Amino acid sequence: MVGKLSTSHTDDRPVRLVQITDTHLGSADGETLLGLNTDQSLDDVLDIVQREQSHIDAMVCTGDIASAPNPSCYQRYIEQINSRFSCSQGWLPGNHDLADVMFTLDHPQRPAHRTMMLGAWLVVLLDTSVPGFVHGELSRAELAFLSQTLNEHSNTPTIVMLHHQPVVVGSEWIDQYIVRNSDALFAITDRHPQVKAISWGHVHQLFEQRRGETLLLATPSTCVQFKPDCDDFTVDTAMPGYRWYDLYPDGRIETGISRVTDKAYVIDYRSAGY
Ligand SMILES: [Fe+2]
Repeated sequence: MVGKLSTSHTDDRPVRLVQITDTHLGSADGETLLGLNTDQSLDDVLDIVQREQSHIDAMVCTGDIASAPNPSCYQRYIEQINSRFSCSQGWLPGNHDLADVMFTLDHPQRPAHRTMMLGAWLVVLLDTSVPGFVHGELSRAELAFLSQTLNEHSNTPTIVMLHHQPVVVGSEWIDQYIVRNSDALFAITDRHPQVKAISWGHVHQLFEQRRGETLLLATPSTCVQFKPDCDDFTVDTAMPGYRWYDLYPDGRIETGISRVTDKAYVIDYRSAGY
């Protein structure tokens, strides 16, 4: 594993959370994104999750589960995850998804999309998608939900998860699709020191920063990666990956990412967009 970031160490048993993101599954099994079979790369990432994690309490996918929001994509995602893992599942929509399709999907194992209680921890799942647009925005209802939830759990260590980045990551082409009203998000989370981390997908790259004591984290996609610090769309040669979190009862976090290492993919690195 690489990229381990820690708030400190403790011997208390933590809750183990796994985040995957931007699986970009096509309507049919085996469809490709920039030449990459996204079912295969998800499978490869889940292989390393199973290899590296002897126990998982929960798994969350932070959006762009589908490349096009066909119910069959979401059915296939759930079947794939549940064929391997019996832990609690959560998900939230990205710009390629449709929240209505995900949240009303007729499936007995449909993931949670609002909150998850994991031991002493709370995970809050936000919807930043704006139907018909690529950028992110939090509706008044989402902001009210966040505010109310944090008020009701003021002593519960919390991770807030969303799809779009609430801060610039340093690549102009994708930073135009930031959460446009992230000031409103931070106005709420800054009042709630129990928010230990804010975590997202969308940027298909590793990113780690702090806002005061709060960790700000982006996680690599399970498919193609975008090269950091590029103002024009640039595909990276970095491999697909995931993020793990150890959430300690006293509010401390350890987190890191891990990537596929033993595969070779055919990807169109010269593409001008996706
Ligand atoms: Fe996205």
